[in-house]
Amino acid sequence: MSEATTIDPGLGHVTAAETRLSRVDGEAGQLIIAGYRLEDIAPNASFEEMLHLLWHDRLPNTSELSAFREGLAALRHLPDVTLDVLKAAAAEKLDLMDTLRMGTATLSLGLSDWIDPALRVVAAMPSIVAASWRMQNGDQPISPDSSLSHAANYLYMLTGNIPDDETVRALETYLNTVVDHGLNASTFSARVVISTRSDMISAVTAAIGALKGPLHGGAPGPALDMVFEIAQPENAERVIREKLANGERIMGFGHRVYRVRDPRADVLNDAAKRFFSDEGDRDLYNLARHVESVALDVLSEHRPERRLQTNVEYYTALLLHGIGLPTELFTPTFAIGRVGGWTAHAREQLATGRIVRPRSAYSGDLDRAWLSIIERS
Ligand SMILES: CC(C)(COP(=O)(O)OP(=O)(O)OC[C@H]1O[C@@H](n2cnc3c(N)ncnc32)[C@H](O)[C@@H]1OP(=O)(O)O)[C@@H](O)C(=O)NCCC(=O)NCCS
Repeated sequence: MSEATTIDPGLGHVTAAETRLSRVDGEAGQLIIAGYRLEDIAPNASFEEMLHLLWHDRLPNTSELSAFREGLAALRHLPDVTLDVLKAAAAEKLDLMDTLRMGTATLSLGLSDWIDPALRVVAAMPSIVAASWRMQNGDQPISPDSSLSHAANYLYMLTGNIPDDETVRALETYLNTVVDHGLNASTFSARVVISTRSDMISAVTAAIGALKGPLHGGAPGPALDMVFEIAQPENAERVIREKLANGERIMGFGHRVYRVRDPRADVLNDAAKRFFSDEGDRDLYNLARHVESVALDVLSEHRPERRLQTNVEYYTALLLHGIGLPTELFTPTFAIGRVGGWTAHAREQLATGRIVRPRSAYSGDLDRAWLSIIERS
């Protein structure tokens, strides 16, 4: 390195924004969402109430909530052109996160001045995911039902069945739990894009790209796959040790900020338990708990100084599986929750932030001599 400067490659020690949206206390294992403790608000608020809180900094009263719900429900339909894109993506069996990114980008179409782009993108993302999922499976998309809540309508568009209250409550608890989490990679991406005075659709599209990666939102599918791979409690230690010996990371463990157990894991565990009441499912739940405790032991031996603990993705996998979602829908469903945070951060960045422009330290040569193409060969 030729320049005298300190580099922080993961920006872990940089505070790049002031926010009123969420506070992540990694040492205490506490998450505050706009003033409320996660464990108080996530299992009780509807997703619409949560969105209103993040966008307007207070919970809505009854009439505000019903107007907010109606406004959101009115923007769920997808233009034909979006459906054409989703159809082409389904024909190529593209990853659903790629499809979601492409579908979301098309939401710039038909955005009249009177439509709030944040409301539009939050309303339409479940329609994009559900339509893509159905098309990939050779089924026709199901039109949204404006009488249903945001969460209930998502499940309805996936299956064609109106979900029971308990399932909707579990999904809302999940969406609320992941709605915001400080300056994580996807939220930071959204803030960087909007900091240039770009637009909401561009910011959300970039954030979807960041969320896709296995080190961020892509972990719950592999976490559940690992539990299935282990299959029996006595295999847990061997499989986990083999993965570590092969240089693999154990999905669902470790976190940049938390040095204790991720508080979101407990909220999701509480919500997941009730879905594993019958015998077959209970076995899976018990196996997952066993795998967790073995993984924690082996990881503390492997990297004692890192204090690697269970993160949100491990219990996301269990809860979403309990709700009946296949693993391919885990990360897109995360996006359907996190878009609440992305849009709130983008608004906050527009109101209070500067263009994000860190420096880089040049480490290349300084004195290369130019050679023409003839001289080079
Ligand atoms: C979340 C995560 C990216 C945080 O990364 P981080 O704080 O930047 O930690 P680092 O990547 O610096 O890792 C520090 C060390 O601990 C190890 N480590 C971290 N998490 C690990 C895990 N889940 N399994 C095995 N080793 C892990 C890393 O291999 C690294 O070792 P190295 O220094 O020899 O490369 C990381 O813990 C991880 O990859 N977890 C698994 C994926 C996951 O569950 N993601 C969802 C996050 S909510």
